[in-house]
Amino acid sequence: MDRARVWITQPASAEVVARLAAHFDVVETDAVQQYTSAQFAAGLRDIDGVLASVIDRIDAAAIIQAPRLKAIANIGVGYNNLDVAALSAAGVIVTNTPEVLTETTADMAWALLLAAARRVSEGERWLRDGRWQSWSFDLLLGQDIHGSTLGILGMGRIGQAVARRARGFDMQVLYHNRSRLPESVEHNLGATYVDKDALLRASDHLVLVLPYSAATRHAIGAPELALMKRGAILVNIARGGIVDDAALAAALQQRQIAAAGLDVFENEPALNPRLLECRNIVLTPHIGSATAATRRAMAMLAADNLIAALGAGPHAGSPPNIVNAQLLRKA
Ligand code: DGY
Repeated sequence: MDRARVWITQPASAEVVARLAAHFDVVETDAVQQYTSAQFAAGLRDIDGVLASVIDRIDAAAIIQAPRLKAIANIGVGYNNLDVAALSAAGVIVTNTPEVLTETTADMAWALLLAAARRVSEGERWLRDGRWQSWSFDLLLGQDIHGSTLGILGMGRIGQAVARRARGFDMQVLYHNRSRLPESVEHNLGATYVDKDALLRASDHLVLVLPYSAATRHAIGAPELALMKRGAILVNIARGGIVDDAALAAALQQRQIAAAGLDVFENEPALNPRLLECRNIVLTPHIGSATAATRRAMAMLAADNLIAALGAGPHAGSPPNIVNAQLLRKA
């Protein structure tokens, strides 16, 4: 019997390639690529499974001429780069990589929150520019984190990991989520559920941990920013598009909120130029889960999902992190 053929769309470690090559013929990729839909359509023609990354936008047009395609394993917890509805309709299993990146991504939320509140990047730029002539009492005054009220919008695994870290800073934690957490979980986290407007009004600092969907697009835009406190810090480690970047740039320029820490953007990697003009912002290039250990765990988990989805390995036929589980129920 012919071996199934899998395509690793972006450069991968030898370990990941070897794990897949134990079961399949593997098509590797040497350099990071931003494929067009037509390039995906061409590449997918004789492919059974794909190890994809979050920059791979695979849409309905790309899969129309992919008769062999059975599974796409996304290396990432978010999968809004994939047209899951079209893939499901075509019977293609989609998997993601939850859990392995939870703590690392929560750490990053705190890195951005602390850096933005205490003006770390701004201070370093100022210093490197040779502008430090003398110490002064009111140099680069920032916002306190300890003892403040932390708002979390989106209280899934990563939101909860962000909340756990707030204990060490003696913070009050408020959250809003599609569905309220069980009382015992709220109690353990020391987190209080409020509606979205109350969250925006009461939070000294707000961390966004929502998945991206049509419903969460621009969840934070001009009206929401207008409800936030003047001293507030906004952190987005979730997805670009959840924040209206143009509205945020305007709010930062007008000092409607104090600062922002952003790891994700609309139209990545092209940033809204107005964001780059703001001094009161810390910017990182979508590296929320980027530690060596976590990226390795994500890639290996995605490989295992793909192996299972294509009917091999210890979980043959039931990939641990399936997104469109209805396909397995039908089978
Ligand atoms: C994810 O997992 O969705 C991240 O954004 C990519 O590392």
